[in-house]
Amino acid sequence: MPTTYPIVVIPGDGIGPEVTAATLTVLEAAGAPLEFHKHQAGLPAIDATGEVLPETTLDAIRTHKTALKGPCTTPVGKGFRSVNVQLRQKLELYAAIRPVRSLEGVKTRFDGVDLVVFRENTEGLYAGVENAIVPGVVTSLKIVTEKASMRIARAAFAYAKQRNRKKVTVFHKANIMKLSDGLFLERVDKVHREEFPEVAYDTRIIDAGCMKLVQDPTQFDILLMENFYGDVVSDLCAGLVGGLGVTPGANIGEDCAVFEAVHGSAPDIAGQNKANPLALIMSAVMMLNHLHELHGDENVKQCANRIKQAYNAALAEGDKTYDLGGTLSTTEFADAVAKRV
Ligand code: NAI
Repeated sequence: MPTTYPIVVIPGDGIGPEVTAATLTVLEAAGAPLEFHKHQAGLPAIDATGEVLPETTLDAIRTHKTALKGPCTTPVGKGFRSVNVQLRQKLELYAAIRPVRSLEGVKTRFDGVDLVVFRENTEGLYAGVENAIVPGVVTSLKIVTEKASMRIARAAFAYAKQRNRKKVTVFHKANIMKLSDGLFLERVDKVHREEFPEVAYDTRIIDAGCMKLVQDPTQFDILLMENFYGDVVSDLCAGLVGGLGVTPGANIGEDCAVFEAVHGSAPDIAGQNKANPLALIMSAVMMLNHLHELHGDENVKQCANRIKQAYNAALAEGDKTYDLGGTLSTTEFADAVAKRV
């Protein structure tokens, strides 16, 4: 009997349950040796438990170490703190890793895009320390620590070295935020100098970096930045290769890893069987590759490869959801991938 691996599945809300169900269809068709433990976070968790991120969900991830998560809505300007940010902070999932690649069959302005965004995932402006000082005056603290800056830098350089990537580029604004971005940049420099001098490395002020990114993304390889910039630049990069329907992600910590798409809960299309599940399917492939790295189990690796080949074939043969110019529903796309695995 092949070994099976326990996975916490969090469907989330909005399009989350739809894309999660589609992803499970594909994983099951591929015979992925996984055992699913369903837990809630986001709006359904409030309905069921009164809490947006129940301790039972966090404990399940701590126990099983790996999770596949659908998006969770965060109210704008009021209400509870982001479930996603809380989850990353509470489990110290310090590295968001978001590959952005051109796909055959998905026509965009650029060919040959192959970027990976490394986003510091636990601090910066998302530390959530905001205060109304007096009516009409608000402060928002940007927290940057040496520890978090160095661990995300190590993650990015180690990834670059291990996978023979061409270069790591840091996006920063240390010309203006001399202390906060200054510390981030200085510690990244130090990790490069002392631990990874063989990896090609450069830096860009983020505004000019974004301009260059949209002019010619193929001049970049691995992009490393703090939390807020990483959030924005991830979506910008998604737009270079076909949008949020095709950009997966991993949130990695010392103990646990949570795999989720870059996109949000897309309330504008929720409940319509319209969302593209590919970003979460790709995140599940990242999850299988992660399990292979942890356990060395070839069965898991082969399963990841089969799913990747299947979605590439589906796209190349024109089976696409509406966001990519196709006509398939969420479930039809999942079936189109599942039948090719
Ligand atoms: P969004 O990513 O949900 O949607 C932006 C646009 O992209 C929408 O037009 C949407 O229809 C489209 N889109 C997104 N994913 C798609 C998919 N799989 N297939 C087809 N089209 C897709 O961003 P938005 O609207 O800014 O945020 C909605 C909610 O999601 C907010 O409450 C936000 O806080 C939350 N959010 C949650 C995230 C997470 O759970 N990790 C990440 C980003 C946002």
